[in-house]
Amino acid sequence: MFSFFNKKPRSAASLEGIACDIHSHLIPGIDDGSPDLGTSMLLIRGLIDLGYRKLITTPHVNSDRFRNTPEIILGGRDRIIQEIRQQGLAVEFGAAAEYLIDDGFMDGLERSADFAASSFSPIPPSRQQEPSHLPVFLPLKDNLLLVELSFYVPVINLKQVLFDLQLKGYQPVLAHPERYLYFAGNKGWYDQLREIGCLFQLNLLSFNGHYGREVRALADYLVKKRYVDFLGTDMHHPGHLEELRHSPAVYKAVQQILDLGLLKNPSL
Ligand SMILES: [Fe+2]
Repeated sequence: MFSFFNKKPRSAASLEGIACDIHSHLIPGIDDGSPDLGTSMLLIRGLIDLGYRKLITTPHVNSDRFRNTPEIILGGRDRIIQEIRQQGLAVEFGAAAEYLIDDGFMDGLERSADFAASSFSPIPPSRQQEPSHLPVFLPLKDNLLLVELSFYVPVINLKQVLFDLQLKGYQPVLAHPERYLYFAGNKGWYDQLREIGCLFQLNLLSFNGHYGREVRALADYLVKKRYVDFLGTDMHHPGHLEELRHSPAVYKAVQQILDLGLLKNPSL
């Protein structure tokens, strides 16, 4: 006989199915994420406890506040990898970036060689050096580039920018599409972005109402439309970790997305 009390409670272990996190701010002191190495390691240990086996962290890159270069980001990545090894933690760690589509991004796009010319991997292969000429952009894997939009002002020529990015051989992954509330009044934008081949990465905490009711509703809408490719923690600080540990609504959404067969995180 079915017993409610025998049913296994959903727990943090439900995040094991995601396997690889592709959005976080774990490199100390270079954006609005972790301020120091101690906090970074606390967050990394927390993510391992949640079931992650691989982390590709993504510091902000934008013209106004965080002008992070590949050299700065990869220097921070290597410092963390060294610490992970010293502490004997079982996790693969790599770094890409979260690029705000702004004027600086457009300049970078003009300077950037075609993706096909680069061979960058966010996870450094053991006993091998980084390519001597780093690419302008650091992809998540292969040609996948994590991009974000302003929360306040829509990009006027967004489709053209994404098209230009694709012409260079990159595949855009839009970070947290549910957080751009100007899309709420015209959800047709989501259809158009999907039609041009843009992938979507939703934030886990959106399903918990962390960013507000409207964002949660948009996240649910995108799942209903099957417009989900990746999930990310967008981890900035221990408060995010604590909330993730106690979010049945998040575990339920993750299970639903896994059951729908939408999630590409495990393939990274
Ligand atoms: Fe982020």
